[in-house]
Amino acid sequence: MDSQAKFNYALQLSPRRHTSSAPDLAGLVTEQLQHFGIDPASEQGRVLGGLVAQLGAANASAHELWALTTRTLSALDRQDRIAWFNAKRFACFQLAKVLDTLQNPLRATYQALLDDMSTAGVKGAYPLFDNVTALFSATPVITRTATYVYACTEWIEDAFKGKELLHEIYSRLLNPTSICLANHIVHLEAGANAESYFAWNFNSGMAAIDTTLAHLLGARDVVLASRNVYGGTHQLLSDWYGKKSNLDVAIEWFDGEHAAQFATQLEAVSRRHAERLAAGRQIFVYLESPCNPHGYVLDVPGICRLAHERGLTLICDSTIGTPYLQPTLRRTDPMERPDFVIHSYTKDLCGSGNTTAGVVIARGERMFLPKGESVRARGHDGREREYRWDDTLFWNVYYVKGAFLDSDKAFEVLSGMRTAELRVLAKCINTIVLARALALHPLINVHCAALAEHANSALRAALMTLGLPAPLFTIDFEGRGGAALGRAPVSRAMMKRLFDNLEPAFGLQVSLGQVNTVVLCPALTSHSELSDEALGQAGIAPSTVRISVGDEDPRFLFEHLRRAAALAAGHELPAFAAGFATPAQLAALYRDVYVDVHTRWVERRLGTWRADPA
Ligand SMILES: Cc1ncc(COP(=O)(O)O)c(C=O)c1O
Repeated sequence: MDSQAKFNYALQLSPRRHTSSAPDLAGLVTEQLQHFGIDPASEQGRVLGGLVAQLGAANASAHELWALTTRTLSALDRQDRIAWFNAKRFACFQLAKVLDTLQNPLRATYQALLDDMSTAGVKGAYPLFDNVTALFSATPVITRTATYVYACTEWIEDAFKGKELLHEIYSRLLNPTSICLANHIVHLEAGANAESYFAWNFNSGMAAIDTTLAHLLGARDVVLASRNVYGGTHQLLSDWYGKKSNLDVAIEWFDGEHAAQFATQLEAVSRRHAERLAAGRQIFVYLESPCNPHGYVLDVPGICRLAHERGLTLICDSTIGTPYLQPTLRRTDPMERPDFVIHSYTKDLCGSGNTTAGVVIARGERMFLPKGESVRARGHDGREREYRWDDTLFWNVYYVKGAFLDSDKAFEVLSGMRTAELRVLAKCINTIVLARALALHPLINVHCAALAEHANSALRAALMTLGLPAPLFTIDFEGRGGAALGRAPVSRAMMKRLFDNLEPAFGLQVSLGQVNTVVLCPALTSHSELSDEALGQAGIAPSTVRISVGDEDPRFLFEHLRRAAALAAGHELPAFAAGFATPAQLAALYRDVYVDVHTRWVERRLGTWRADPA
């Protein structure tokens, strides 16, 4: 590193980083002391000056190390990576030790100033240095504050322009616990591509969806959305964005899960809205995969490719898949990755059901750039374009709205995510077991991609991790062929009696993705916003029951269902109660599925993880 670069990094630490006239490091030190009214020639000035000069040099060395790491990390073998990680980690402790040592003179001076008990009481404990040891908390620290102490005028001026990320300014915008979660979800979702991606957290999944739409959509744009989406999303698109007096966005729905079906409907929508498109309006693609309520898997990579070939931006709500089952941003070819990936953390990622939260993940240049800056970058569609700071999601919507995730919720999600993979694996096993067992019943229709004979099975097998199904599916009691087969469908009254006897095995709760199994009737709850026609198009019958599968023993769930069916069916339809698989059949099924999934899981681990990628 040349001396000019070293000087610039020392300047970065100066309280006069924008107004300095110092020619060298010594000049910077003098300037800083004078800025705070300290005589450089005094003993205090000499000692503090010595420290400041070394901090300036330390910042230059840290930057040199950063650049070196970026340049060489991919070529380092695992042993060197271990050595370097621990050496750098230890250097963090050394820096913290210096900060901690500084606590003593700072506190003494503070206490000498606040010698009045009443004033000291009102001021409260001064946080700066006592927080240093919190750096080493074994879990991310819950930073429960609205505001932050900042260094000096010129640094906070930079912070307001997004050029000083040390200062988070205000917790409606930035908060360390929430940023920790954002960095972590990017790591999980994008893996080796994580460097290129960026996430913003929100206080619910819907806030994440709304912010993304608000960021992208302009008046009279067109949205082509997959048919089966969460009812709240349906309502947001149709009732708010589609409303003439709001943005008058044309909302179009496409049926099916395959790229070819999407292509046909994209052509039709392009023709139908030729006038809008000619006036410069755009089509945006919105997918939910696996979808709510049936858990069907869409050909996300295939649809992304088609959309990108036409230069369209694509959003995918990946909540039900989680990064474990549907790692959308780990695909090698960027053409096959959604531009914006959304998760409602409320569901399986957090898992506990203790909080609502959501996230949007996209390439860095679409999410945040410092004020006034622009970059040229290649989008997922392979086209290079200029990205401006004021077109990023952060400045365009996030900064001016207020749906940021607070630290307590971020902590809750971070804690839950540590067990997400194991929870999801157990749920997938239970889903296969329950779907297969229920499919043996002659009066129950099972809509689940886990079933080999189901139309969605091929996409599930091709695209989901280990070919596992989403832990979400539906059943209905409309009868298999009904009168044609001479079978009387289960009456609505019986179905209601059955439903009301499902507790405590099945939680009668809304939401999905909890540790416990939860059931609801979409037509009455999660999708009640849809008209009867829209319900029919979404494959939701009046008797449809959505099962969000949990981690319980599936035999316990199934046995309860069998008994609840007996209570509900009574003398009206004894065949209904008698149609369930036997406990022995279920146990055999459970054993087979459990062994099969775990065998494939361990084989995959053995096949994919290597001690040394080289
Ligand atoms: C697939 C999907 N996306 C988004 C949401 C909305 O998330 P939240 O409830 O966190 O706002 C839901 C809620 O059920 C959902 O099922």
